[in-house]
Amino acid sequence: MFEKFEKLPDDPILGILTSYRNDDNPKKIDLSVGVYKNEDGLTPIFDAVKKAETKKLSEETSKTYTSIEGDPVFCEFIQRLVLGDDHVVIKEKRSGAVSTPGGSGALRVAGEVINGWKPGANLWVSTPSWPNHIPLLSTAGLTVKEYPYYDGINHVIKTDEMLTQISKLTKDDILLLHACCHNPSGADLDFETWKEITTLAQKNGFTPFVDCAYQGLGLGLDADVEGLRYMASHLPELIIAYSCSKNFGLYRERVGSTIIITENPATTDAAWTHMKSVARRLYSVPPAHGAIIVGMILGDKELKNSWKAELDQMQQNINTLRGLFTESIQTKSENRDFNFVKSQRGMFSILGLTVEQVIQLREEFSIYMVNNSRINIAGVSATNIDYLADSIATVL
Ligand code: LMR
Repeated sequence: MFEKFEKLPDDPILGILTSYRNDDNPKKIDLSVGVYKNEDGLTPIFDAVKKAETKKLSEETSKTYTSIEGDPVFCEFIQRLVLGDDHVVIKEKRSGAVSTPGGSGALRVAGEVINGWKPGANLWVSTPSWPNHIPLLSTAGLTVKEYPYYDGINHVIKTDEMLTQISKLTKDDILLLHACCHNPSGADLDFETWKEITTLAQKNGFTPFVDCAYQGLGLGLDADVEGLRYMASHLPELIIAYSCSKNFGLYRERVGSTIIITENPATTDAAWTHMKSVARRLYSVPPAHGAIIVGMILGDKELKNSWKAELDQMQQNINTLRGLFTESIQTKSENRDFNFVKSQRGMFSILGLTVEQVIQLREEFSIYMVNNSRINIAGVSATNIDYLADSIATVL
């Protein structure tokens, strides 16, 4: 059997991290994978996470299975975090959640549930999108189609083209949106556009599916999900894939959630059994450690405030770095306009370099970014910013 296998190419994002780790140039810079880094290039553990973890370890008495849906406290609080305690959907008990192995697990559970509803259903994905969206969701059986989203030359969202395409979707279509911090472009929909898409969904009956992987890292915990919450309060149905990797720094613990909103508590209950059936088939029960930590933080006033303060600081640091990076690169590459980087949100922006320039940066300067020139802004620091800007100016 295995003699027929040919070696596959490296993963377009995680593969670059491996090359970076193997590079012994002391000046190397990693701008590839979307992880937050502090000034020293480290990805710290949140204080609130450490405290909750210590408490959990001292109190837990068993490692027996959780249930298929995972920790119930986590499932309850994660819906409240994304929708807000006072949201009509929460009050009317129209949402249900399962805990999943990270945001990828959340996407896959949602994808399988959608495919159970309509095998091979159309899933509309933005161009560009997180490169794993397409393989992850098409292998769940969905037919992936793309809608125009980002103009990489002018660095703006193609709002008109996008809305024209979306206006053609019908009740047989699913529309994948990014709640905030669009990956890879950093260009987010404004509130008016969220409202327009909601109106189209009301009129034509397609179902939005929102990938929410960066809540709190764009403009803030509430502002980042303003569009999502509006949609949830105006539409009968919505699907959310949530990730706690970035905003709780729990990357390797694999903490995420699939949340389904339906028309009434009875249909939600039924949809929830489908999520559980998919989970059982795919991985049986989700990892518990990180989810329990998130539940403990969200359920404890002191821990929650500490987590929020740290997250706010990270968000501010990212936005400060956006300003510093733009200033630095702009002085060194006067012929190009990089001001768009300053106004984008979250960890990513696409610089607009050619693949050849990206490879030159990697091979000659040990600067690692994704081939489409997506950079993780959090990888920039006061120590590397000059070297980075000089190197980019050289390849330009
Ligand atoms: C990224 O886009 O860098 C992150 O979401 C990590 C990943 O799994 O690709």
